[in-house]
This record gives sequence, structure tokens and C-alpha cells, in this order.
Amino acid sequence: MQMFRTVCVLVLAGMSFAAVSSNPSVQDEVVADEITPKLIPQPRKVELQTGKHRLTPEFRIGVESRQFAQLGKYLRSRLILATNYDFDVVVGEGWSKVSGLRLHIDERLLDTLGEEGYRLTVSKRNAEFLAATPTGLFYAIQTYCQLLPPEIGAKSVQRGIDWVAPCIKIEDVPRFGWRGMMLDSGRHFFSVDAIKAFLDQMARHKMNRFHWHLTEDQGWRLAIRAEPKLTEVGARRSETPILSDRNNGDGQPYGGFYSQEDVREIVAYAAERHIMVIPEIEMPGHCQAALAVHPELSCTGGPFEVATRWGVHRDVYCAGTDETFHFLARVLTEVHDLFPAPYIHIGGDECPKDRWKDCERCQKRIADEGLEDETELQAWFIQRMKTWLNARDRQIIGWDEILHDELAPNATVMSWRGVQGGIAAAKQGHDVIMSPTSHCYLDYFQSKNTEGEPPAIGGYLPLKTVYAFEPIPAELTEDEAQHILGAQGNVWTEYIATPEHMEYMSWPRGCAIAERVWSAKDVRDFDEFSVRLEAHLARMKVLGVNFRAPKTTD
Ligand code: ACM
Ligand code: ZN
Repeated sequence: MQMFRTVCVLVLAGMSFAAVSSNPSVQDEVVADEITPKLIPQPRKVELQTGKHRLTPEFRIGVESRQFAQLGKYLRSRLILATNYDFDVVVGEGWSKVSGLRLHIDERLLDTLGEEGYRLTVSKRNAEFLAATPTGLFYAIQTYCQLLPPEIGAKSVQRGIDWVAPCIKIEDVPRFGWRGMMLDSGRHFFSVDAIKAFLDQMARHKMNRFHWHLTEDQGWRLAIRAEPKLTEVGARRSETPILSDRNNGDGQPYGGFYSQEDVREIVAYAAERHIMVIPEIEMPGHCQAALAVHPELSCTGGPFEVATRWGVHRDVYCAGTDETFHFLARVLTEVHDLFPAPYIHIGGDECPKDRWKDCERCQKRIADEGLEDETELQAWFIQRMKTWLNARDRQIIGWDEILHDELAPNATVMSWRGVQGGIAAAKQGHDVIMSPTSHCYLDYFQSKNTEGEPPAIGGYLPLKTVYAFEPIPAELTEDEAQHILGAQGNVWTEYIATPEHMEYMSWPRGCAIAERVWSAKDVRDFDEFSVRLEAHLARMKVLGVNFRAPKTTD
């Protein structure tokens, strides 16, 4: 076989592969394409070199400093199960002399690589992982693993595999700092193991924000020590709508919640993967499970049961009683202790005003505070919570319904009802996370032909549409665009009851989101992405992820 000898430099900016080698022959180009690694998300700059890098049992892992020794162990853990090669990890002195994989931080590269970028230089006998921070090194490891055969992801020894990667130089930085996925644990409960698997998938795609929707009408999933009934009562519903017939219940009690130990375990697991966990505690709406425990926090006094039907429920926290705010303070005090993220998401979406209109206490609040109407009362509610959280070093995030003229700029807005809310918020000086239903709602069907598809909430969001998403709307000036922190995929789970189904809905549409938020803006050729995705699906298959294979008829 003709060997690939020309040093062929491929700068992958978008769909165009600019072969910068001097006069490469057609043959070389063909070979180059065969060995060009199929990476997702596509890095900024890839220079293919001649030759092959072969992982062998003699390899060692050298880690420059004890401060990120953990990353050496993590890299080892990503390689050892499939290869059964017992790599030594050398930390500190002698690290740079090892033959094999070397992890090194140079803080002077902060200007070039930022907090999350990296350089990866893979040569025949070594691979150098270089970044300005441990996070950058973590992402270099993700890329390195994608260079190896997909079987590297196997959890058992794979015999007869030649563990080769192309010799290559990669320099990579993300486009956005917020690269997220949201999971709704309220409608259905997902085990700690299922969430860890989800976090692993996110990390492999260099995603770094796990927005965890923890409270809903149909279930309160977070243990609060000061309020044990929230999970004793609020985490269980008497039945669930039948998947194929949303107006009828299945008659089966359903429940589940996360203990505080579970939460700490998940937060730590995520942190090891450089993922921030942002809890969402919904208010003033989507709170019927809490009202089932505390009917006195409603406008009518109840009684209520944990909701057994989906949709938007009318009973919400009464904004007229201070008890509501005392209760939320008790909850958020513990949320604050559990989650180190600088943000707490307080929901704010889909809060019907019917009860507030008929409630004496809410009407008195409107009068006392000189508010115009119930819409202003909602803004007042959000502002009160924001003040409380800001005094405790936390910023709020809310769905785009929180946007209001009076909202102080340090509230971050999550644009879901299209991108208009995000545009308005960015123009008002708010940070924005884009997650419009049009491109980011992963609970929608992925095919026009829904026959043979598992249930979905409705809608139609094929992979191609997700891939076409652009988080920065053309309406924004360059300065305003600085407020777009990034984007996220939302996995709402009314119709998703199992981890398998959750994975089916999340991947590969999550791969498309990962590329939108990590890769350069002009990396947008869906056909070219599809070629890389085919190789990427082989990786997910080895990992046992229940992704949905895209079809041309989608
Ligand atoms: C939402 O989908 N209600 C934020
Ligand atoms: Zn009220």
C-alpha cells in the first residue's frame, strides 16, 4: 500500500479542507481523507502529520504537577480497560522524560488558549497535552481518545486492535463558555448512575454546563433537610399519564428523589469532568408538588395532590404571603450549600396569573408595592428572590418570562420561546443562554415519520435543524453579542421514562449542539458533519449509548 508521505497540513475551518502542502497528489489527498480523524466537536485547527502514533504497553503517563495528577489518572482510566496496558503515571519530577503521554500546563498560554483551550501534539512515540488550565488538558484528553480506534471506549479488554492514531497537531479553543444540556428529573426520575452516564457523554463532547431541573408539578426530587415532607410526599404521584394517551393515567404510583448525598456525589462527579451543575428550583409556577405539602403557600389553600397530568397548572405560589418567601429561603439555603455553581436557576416560565387575580393577598401585594398588574407581580417575585440570592453570592438564571424592564442586569436569561427573548435581554444588557424550542428542544420528534419512533411531546426537530442553529442572532451588534454565553439542549421528560429513551432523544442531536457551541461559526456543512458523525456513532456504540441513528428520510 502506498504510504502517506507528504506532510499535509489541513486547516479545518468550516467545511473547507485547505490542503496547504506543496502540490499534493490526488492519491495523497485520498489517503489524507481516509486518515483524517473524524472529531466531534470539530477543533479549530488540525494539522495532519506523516506517520502513525501507536499506543503500546510501554507507554507511561507523565504529569508535570501534583495539582493535576488527577488528570493523569483520568487519562489512564480512559485507556486501560480496553487495552489492558498497565500505564505507569509519573507525577512531578521525571514527568517530561517519560515516553508516552505527557500532560503539561503553561499559564502563559492563557492569552492564546483561554481557560478551556488546548494544544495536542501527537507524534510517533509521544503525545503532548498542553493547556493553560486543567480544564484545557481535560479537553485535550477527550480529543486524544477520539483519535484512537472506537474500541478504546470499551469496558472490557479488546484483543487484536492496533491502537493507532494519526500523528497530528491540534490547537483548539471553544467558541462559547456555556455548552449545556438540561435534564428534567421532575417529570421522570433518573438514577444517579443514569445521570453519571449522561455527564460522561456531555464531557466527551466538551460540554460543561449541566442544568438540572429538579422540581415540578409532578414531582419534587431534591431532599431538603428542613422540609422532609417535600420528598416524603412531594416526590410521589399517584399515577402518570399513559405515554400514548396523555389524558388518561396508568394507575401506577411513581416516585423518586435525590438524597443530599446523591447530589453531592453528582456534583463531584460532574466537577471531575469540568462540568458545572446548575440546579433549577421552579417558581412561581410549576410547583404543585410543593403545594401538595404546603397548601398554605397557594392562593386558594388547596388541597392539592402531586400532579398526575402534564401541562401548565394554575395553582402556583401565592405572591401575597410572606410564608412563600420564608419557605423558598429554607429550600434555597440548602440548595446554596449543595451546589457550588455561581448560578441558581429559579425557573419563572409558564406561571398562569388566574389565582393571583382572584387572591386578596396577591391583590394587596400589588397595591402595597405600587405594581401595575399580575405581570408586574411576577417581576416583583423574581426580583425579591434575586435580591435574596445575590446577597448570598449567587446569580439567578430564569426562563425568558423573567425579562422585564426592571430586571437588574446581573440576571441571566434563558431564551426558550424562540430567540426574541434572548435578543431583547442581550439588548438590555443581560447575559443570555440560547435554548429555543425551534432548535434545542430534544424532547421533540427527530423524524417527520413518527411511526416506529418512541413517544415524544410532539414537534419536529431533526438533527439537521439542530445543526443549523446559530446562537448569535443577526439582530445583535458585536457588543450585544458578547452577552450570548452559549446554548444548551433541553431534555424535557414528560414522554421519556427510561435512561435508554433519554439517550435516544439526546444523541446525536446533543452532538450537533456540542459542535454549535464549541466549533467555529463557519463549521456548518451538514454533509461533512454527517461523515464525521458516522465515525462518532461507532464510538457511542462501543460505549453502549442508545443513540438514534439518523436516517436520510428524517
Ligand atoms: C419551558 O420549556 N417551559 C421552559
Ligand atoms: Zn395569592
